[in-house]
Amino acid sequence: MRDGMDRRDFMKTVGIGSVAAAMAGGTAGSALGAEEAGVAAITAAPPRGTYVLPELPYAYGALEPFLAGQTLKLHHDKHHQGYVNGLNATLEKLAAARQAGDYGAIKRLSRSLAFHGSGHVLHTLYWNSMTPGGAALTGPLAEAVAKDFGSQEAFLAQFAAATRAAEASGWGVVAYEPMGRRVLVLQAEKHQNLTVWGVVPLLVCDVWEHAYYLDYQNRRGDYVKGFLGAANWAFANRRYAQARKLG
Ligand SMILES: [Fe+2]
Repeated sequence: MRDGMDRRDFMKTVGIGSVAAAMAGGTAGSALGAEEAGVAAITAAPPRGTYVLPELPYAYGALEPFLAGQTLKLHHDKHHQGYVNGLNATLEKLAAARQAGDYGAIKRLSRSLAFHGSGHVLHTLYWNSMTPGGAALTGPLAEAVAKDFGSQEAFLAQFAAATRAAEASGWGVVAYEPMGRRVLVLQAEKHQNLTVWGVVPLLVCDVWEHAYYLDYQNRRGDYVKGFLGAANWAFANRRYAQARKLG
């Protein structure tokens, strides 16, 4: 939670599951750094402007040898930018539809909104879910996963297995579920499918082939193993502290 924001404001603006609120850290005019934007992604007010690509929180080559600089440059500059562009274009088309009172394309546009919006959310979180050398899983989140999964080892094993097994293009997601006040391991297909509504994603791993194919070809398991070595659990812990305020 950002300084000065009380719990009611947080609850009002957090909009977990809402593309608009979730992407507030990545809109035009934001002065936030990439990691701060990622942390703020669930806290800031809903955007009224144009979505923008956040900068990486490290240099393109900072995660080598886990991921080559070329991989991150293409992934960030081309793929993530594509989702930002797609999100903005979809919102413009929805505005035009409202203006015209023509909802003939509403099914396609709603699908596009979920796909590109979730793509932007997840990629913003993904960059911050990694850090050079990794950051250990300690503190309140470590205590929570030990309680919810039996042990940290069991939690990490389930996360790795779920991530490796995501069907086709997808994600592994560690999330906090406020109604049950527990941590969940989820998969996502594409970007938007298989979520549990209301969860707060804490740490995400992209297993679309564009995330790893240059480095690992078809060896997704090796990439996931490398991801766990670079995982930024300090970032996840900060997200967890924010999310706990929901329940
Ligand atoms: Fe990706």
